[in-house]
Amino acid sequence: MSLLKRFTVVACFLHTLRLGAGVAATESCTPKPSCKATPNSKSWPSEQEWASLNRTLSGQLLHPPPPGAVCHPGQPTYNATTCPAVQQAWLTSVYHSDNPVSSLQNNWNNDTCLPYPTDPCSGQGYPIYVVNATCAEDVKKGVDFAREKNVRLIVKGTGHDYLGRSSAPNSLSIWTHNIKGITFHDSFKPKGCQFSIDTPAVTAGAGTQMLELDDQAQQKNLTIVGGGAGTVGVGGYLTGGGHSYFSTTYGMAADQVLEIEMVTPGGDILTVNECQNQDLFWAMRGGGGSTFGVLTSVTVKAFPSYVFATANILVSSSIGDTDAFWNVMTNMLSQFPALNDQGVASYNNIAANVTVPELNITTPINGFSGIFFLPLTRPSNTTESFATVMNDFVALTTKGYPQVAFSITFTTYSNFFDYYMTGNGPLSGGDDVMLGSRLLDVKALTGNYTALKQAIQLATPAGEVTQANLVGGKNVWNAKPRGGSNAVNPAWRKAYVHTIAITSWTAFDNAAMKFQVNQINSTRIQALRDLAPDMGAYINEAFPYEPNFQQAFWGDNYPRLLKIKREFDPSDVLWCQPCVGNERWHVVDDVLCRL
Ligand SMILES: Cc1cc2nc3c(=O)[nH]c(=O)nc-3n(C[C@H](O)[C@H](O)[C@H](O)COP(=O)(O)OP(=O)(O)OC[C@H]3O[C@@H](n4cnc5c(N)ncnc54)[C@H](O)[C@@H]3O)c2cc1C
Ligand SMILES: *[C@@H]1O[C@H](CO)[C@@H](O)[C@H](O)[C@H]1NC(C)=O
Ligand SMILES: *[C@@H]1O[C@H](CO)[C@@H](O)[C@H](O)[C@H]1NC(C)=O
Ligand SMILES: *[C@@H]1O[C@H](CO)[C@@H](O)[C@H](O)[C@H]1NC(C)=O
Ligand SMILES: *[C@@H]1O[C@H](CO)[C@@H](O)[C@H](O)[C@H]1NC(C)=O
Ligand SMILES: *[C@@H]1O[C@H](CO)[C@@H](O)[C@H](O)[C@H]1NC(C)=O
Ligand SMILES: *[C@@H]1O[C@H](CO)[C@@H](O)[C@H](O)[C@H]1NC(C)=O
Ligand SMILES: *[C@@H]1O[C@H](CO)[C@@H](O)[C@H](O)[C@H]1NC(C)=O
Ligand SMILES: *[C@@H]1O[C@H](CO)[C@@H](O)[C@H](O)[C@H]1NC(C)=O
Ligand SMILES: *[C@@H]1O[C@H](CO)[C@@H](O)[C@H](O)[C@H]1NC(C)=O
Ligand SMILES: *[C@@H]1O[C@H](CO)[C@@H](O)[C@H](O)[C@H]1NC(C)=O
Repeated sequence: MSLLKRFTVVACFLHTLRLGAGVAATESCTPKPSCKATPNSKSWPSEQEWASLNRTLSGQLLHPPPPGAVCHPGQPTYNATTCPAVQQAWLTSVYHSDNPVSSLQNNWNNDTCLPYPTDPCSGQGYPIYVVNATCAEDVKKGVDFAREKNVRLIVKGTGHDYLGRSSAPNSLSIWTHNIKGITFHDSFKPKGCQFSIDTPAVTAGAGTQMLELDDQAQQKNLTIVGGGAGTVGVGGYLTGGGHSYFSTTYGMAADQVLEIEMVTPGGDILTVNECQNQDLFWAMRGGGGSTFGVLTSVTVKAFPSYVFATANILVSSSIGDTDAFWNVMTNMLSQFPALNDQGVASYNNIAANVTVPELNITTPINGFSGIFFLPLTRPSNTTESFATVMNDFVALTTKGYPQVAFSITFTTYSNFFDYYMTGNGPLSGGDDVMLGSRLLDVKALTGNYTALKQAIQLATPAGEVTQANLVGGKNVWNAKPRGGSNAVNPAWRKAYVHTIAITSWTAFDNAAMKFQVNQINSTRIQALRDLAPDMGAYINEAFPYEPNFQQAFWGDNYPRLLKIKREFDPSDVLWCQPCVGNERWHVVDDVLCRL
């Protein structure tokens, strides 16, 4: 008998003694290692075991080098010919979505192998092995292996995550990018239900990204409640909630989900919907990515395509007129609820004391740039009614401030996709970024003008950008998700505005990083927390180290989410920060260990 086995027997014996007779003996008798395996630990699977996993996956197991290594002489994959192309592609989101291990933001790979020869290069910030999954069975094989061999497991769709949940050192990663397939339905019968849901719908594989989904939908004259960037993937987006150009009109993206196919941490391939596995169906719609299982495909409701009316608003002032600028911003934010009640939504950026060399703005200014829009779904909503409402909004909010310049430009598109294509050039990536965020309700926006002005000013220090996206409102609050409810943060059901404080820094400038991150937490988001203390934040675009994140991201849904996590993942096969049920582990020197 090996030492380990003997220890197990003794441990189980002691455990039984402590439990005493009559206590249900469902507790597993396997020892609980205190940390997940790493290549340096004895319990790391042998080469043979990985090779055997690879065989069951028909060769789809990858052991990827750090992608930036092609630019580093001395690395096995160094290649002076391919390096310049990688350096160029590195600055686009497509490169990182298409790569098995790369993250959109360098900091989530810990800047460990940027494609610049003067920087260091190691595989330290990347997973070790990757299952290049093409179907649910592949996912199951990876999940089973990780569970049985005590290997840290993560899930990567596109690597767009702002919280670093799709990347981890010393891990096995399930890469869902190649789980493809899009199928449309005129109506949809959830598996195990005795009825059909009378709505157009679309089933999309986990690797589906927004641009292809929107494109395919538009070819059927349909529109999806989808994400704003073409490379965002369905997996992380829908499991976190999903705001959209259409959330003000139809509710959150998670509210449109009719059915999910998934692999549980226990290795079961399940179809979850309102008629079966209802707890998982509830949790997977808002409870967060890589927590309750791996989504392999999802069916969402689709809507008819309508004419899409937009208004681009620009506001700016010189630094000398800063106070007037903030008055106009505060006026605009306090009018957002009234605007949203008329169906209008907006994505926008506010920046203080910035230069924009690309636009030849070399003297600092304060600026606002926003796209306001209304899909014309009703006869009473026309390009004329939209123009009237928007012109009134601008007149009202800028009145009395001639020193603040503004412009408004209307463009009408025959459908959302036409608009989307104009703004979907190559998205950027490959820098070091962090966000913080807060959802704002009507009280925060209209309750106290002075408090609102102070908060938005504090949230936007010199040189930084804050968004005040008007993407909530009545149709988010009153959405009717299938099965009665879902796990989307209850704060969304009171929110009009999703504010995001954005910052970035130059890689390896640790002083700047510390300063910016602390400023996000202690000043920028703190001001918004103080303004809206009863609200919360959106898990997918949030401060990764949000204090009391359970309450901030899930509010009163947290206890039920935790119960479901414990039921379906009792041994924490999936673990991430900041995710439901992660309280029992922490990361020490890149190793995930029990507390
Ligand atoms: C440029 C840009 C624009 C954005 N625009 C919007 C927007 O308009 N609206 C909005 O709501 N959000 C938006 N986001 C935020 C977006 O929702 C999150 O970044 C989200 O996490 C992306 O999910 P992903 O699957 O693409 O990314 P990933 O980084 O691959 O995954 C994110 C999280 O989900 C998990 N995950 C991924 N796939 C699966 C799966 N199949 N099963 C289980 N877990 C999975 C990952 O493990 C991780 O925890 C945007 C982000 C970026 C970078
Ligand atoms: C898995 O097998 C394929 C096909 O034999 C091979 O190309 C690949 O390198 C293997 N993966 C690993 C991690 O060894
Ligand atoms: C470098 O990459 C080029 C282009 O892909 C390829 O033709 C060449 O063989 C590679 N060189 C080495 C040394 O691998
Ligand atoms: C990131 O890398 C540094 C060394 O450059 C190391 O000290 C640190 O532990 C790493 N952090 C993570 C989260 O891996
Ligand atoms: C992953 O699998 C897909 C489908 O088999 C294949 O086309 C692709 O080349 C693989 N990716 C890598 C990096 O091996
Ligand atoms: C698309 O749908 C809209 C809204 O239902 C309808 O008005 C329009 O005629 C449709 N267009 C086509 C080409 O079918
Ligand atoms: C604007 O930024 C500059 C440079 O960072 C700084 O010196 C100046 O004080 C700022 N002005 C205001 C009004 O914030
Ligand atoms: C900025 O100025 C330069 C030089 O005058 C000019 O060539 C360029 O077109 C300008 N760019 C913009 C965006 O106006
Ligand atoms: C859109 O239509 C709704 C319902 O008729 C109406 O309340 C709202 O004011 C309209 N908004 C605009 C901008 O036309
Ligand atoms: C409004 O907010 C300001 C600034 O936080 C505060 O001083 C003031 O007391 C508040 N007014 C009311 C009526 O609450
Ligand atoms: C964020 O701010 C809170 C409240 O001030 C503080 O308790 C926490 O330590 C801060 N976290 C980080 C990562 O700075």
